Amino acid sequence: MTIWESSCTEPFLISGLEVPVPVPFVFVSGILCGVVLTLLVGLASRERRELSSYSINKISTNTSSNDFAQNEENHWKQNKFKLELNETSQQKIGNNNSGENTNTATKNDKNMNAAAHDILQAAITLFEKQTRPSMKDSYSSAANNKVVEYLSPEEMLQQLFATDKNISLRLNMNMTNTNTNTNTNTNTNTNTAHQKVEQITECFRLIQKYSVNTNHPFFFNQLFGAVDPVALAAEMIALSVNTSAYTYETAPVFTMIERDVLGYLGRLVFNLDGGGEDHGNSGSSGNDSDTDGLMLPGGSLSNLTALHVARHYAKYGVEARPSHCHRSQSQIRVDGDDDDDDDGDDDDDDDDIHEEKKEQENDQSRNALRPLSNTLHVPTHSQPELVAFVSAEAHYSFIKAISVIGIESHNLIVVPTLHNGQMDVEELESLMINMHDLYGEAKVPFFVGVTAGSTVRGSFDDINAIVRVCRRHEEKMNSSNYPYGYVPNRNLRLSSTSNSIKKHKIWIHVDGAWGGSAIFSARHDIRGLVKGVEKADSFTFNPHKMLGAPQQTTAFVTRHKGLLKAANSSGAKYLFDCRKNGAEYDLGDASYTCGRRTDSIKLWALLKFHGPDGLGRQLEQKVDVLDYLVKKIKEKNNFLLACDPWPFNVNFFFVPEHLGTKMIQSGVDMDSSNPQIGEHLSKELADVSVRLKLVLHQNGEMMIPYQPISNQEADCFRIVLAGYKPFTEGDVDRVLELMEQYGNSL
Ligand SMILES: Cc1ncc(COP(=O)(O)O)c(C=O)c1O
Repeated sequence: MTIWESSCTEPFLISGLEVPVPVPFVFVSGILCGVVLTLLVGLASRERRELSSYSINKISTNTSSNDFAQNEENHWKQNKFKLELNETSQQKIGNNNSGENTNTATKNDKNMNAAAHDILQAAITLFEKQTRPSMKDSYSSAANNKVVEYLSPEEMLQQLFATDKNISLRLNMNMTNTNTNTNTNTNTNTNTAHQKVEQITECFRLIQKYSVNTNHPFFFNQLFGAVDPVALAAEMIALSVNTSAYTYETAPVFTMIERDVLGYLGRLVFNLDGGGEDHGNSGSSGNDSDTDGLMLPGGSLSNLTALHVARHYAKYGVEARPSHCHRSQSQIRVDGDDDDDDDGDDDDDDDDIHEEKKEQENDQSRNALRPLSNTLHVPTHSQPELVAFVSAEAHYSFIKAISVIGIESHNLIVVPTLHNGQMDVEELESLMINMHDLYGEAKVPFFVGVTAGSTVRGSFDDINAIVRVCRRHEEKMNSSNYPYGYVPNRNLRLSSTSNSIKKHKIWIHVDGAWGGSAIFSARHDIRGLVKGVEKADSFTFNPHKMLGAPQQTTAFVTRHKGLLKAANSSGAKYLFDCRKNGAEYDLGDASYTCGRRTDSIKLWALLKFHGPDGLGRQLEQKVDVLDYLVKKIKEKNNFLLACDPWPFNVNFFFVPEHLGTKMIQSGVDMDSSNPQIGEHLSKELADVSVRLKLVLHQNGEMMIPYQPISNQEADCFRIVLAGYKPFTEGDVDRVLELMEQYGNSL
């Protein structure tokens, strides 16, 4: 029994199929989504009521019936979408015109404002149309609409971007611009605005129609998918207030939510009880535990952040860039000369802020950028090079990130994997030990990227084993006879509360962008995948992948409080000024971006509604269904596992009958979960994967990826259950059936 088939499940009729739909889903999509949409509609229409000279008729918002989508489609097809002038408003404008001599420009502005709000209202209807029925479909074992209405690029250009069509997405179309229209006729102006509403709304509809429906149950293409309705609702609320989470001043609630969510996550990941009180101005980027963290725009930038803070830590510790609010510029010294009485507690904060305020009042050039070169330690060339390690299965973002942080790409060492895709830890150790001989240079390991759920295989590195290797190597590096000492500043403290002087340390970052949600499961086979994560230095995971938060939602946490701010603070005075209300809670200076999305609300909503246990159970249900998929692949002659499956990823081949016969004849063990396939047959198999993927895509039946895999020469298929995907065994059967149906007729 799945969590979606639990006792709170109600039968729900979708296109003649009785489909189990859970009460939470009905509750959420029906009530929450409805409430939020009503709010947004209200928001749009409030101003519209004030401004509108016409209203949109005939856009049905009644979604209670299952034929909503069909009605809506017919409605559009028959071109019955009408914008009709609201007589009363029109008259009002007319009266105003004669009575008060309103000039044409003002009338135009009013019409355009009204039109803009009508467009918003139409978009809200389209939003509901797009999300609601497709979310229902994700409960259907036989999806009754397409994953994509596929158009080739040529067809797309012809149908959507042609210049000779009345409606086109191309920008140089003749949408009459009323701003430049000098015609004084009120009706013409109104009609032009009216036409714009129609045109833009139709453009929106086309954009939706020909986009990929990632809410569809058979969208397997990437590591994201159907959106969780509660997280979507949270995103809508965030959009409704459209702010930036850099200062408390602009985002008071989101600042506190982000601190709370990341504090919770930090305690969960690093296994800490409670955590100390943070009064905001302790130098942390801001949460109420002993850890630090930020929401970041994606897993790739999280990996970059991990490398960046690890490099900063290796060179400067946590105190090289004090918080702008803690000290004035004159107090900032080149690292190593830090004030001895800076013990990191907040006793002196009031004085600091007082001093700072006085200084800022006198500072004529406070909007100017401070010269960072005054404050930073500049490494000399005689110092050894920093070296990072990741496995051959690690995400490609590490390759880009290493160059971005200014480390030569050859100093990212790729450690081979075992046959199951895990980092070969013995190899890691031997590479660390022999690095100097191998590369003939002074190099110092400073970072190991651990993969918790690799993109293709879904493999999890053994965190505990990697920690042991790193600790052993640190001991060597910190012994007196280690020849490649990288100690930029012996007096620098490791953390604001620690008295220990700086030593070599290898930063361990767990990239759980894909599989990190395993921390929420209580089940041994799932939580055990990230055993040892509590010993890591940093951890990231993407709720927008496994858990169905809207793109992008990424959390990054580190056990080193204050480090994000130390590494990123630039103290831009026009924005981060401790005299502003609540400035001690500002998050933005700990980030290397300026504007910041309010992403924390999505993770907060997931945790608040489902709870960690509920999220864990979703994962467990997915793992069980994927187990069933593995079983079916093993049973069926047409399918073959490409490698031993991990809980979240199944890699396999479709083998048409004629090819299967050839493979058996040439001695391929078709029962193996790690089959050895010769070069020639691999080519044929890869060709099948490519052609089958394309035909499924073009027919809009399914979007499934193929990709190379380390133990095979042929590209294979991958199925993952990303997103809010209440998949059933019936859905698995349907997927395999479809693949057989199309695959056998290739
Ligand atoms: C293991 C892993 N790390 C990092 C990333 C990058 O995440 P994002 O796409 O959010 O940048 C991915 C993306 O698939 C991934 O699978």
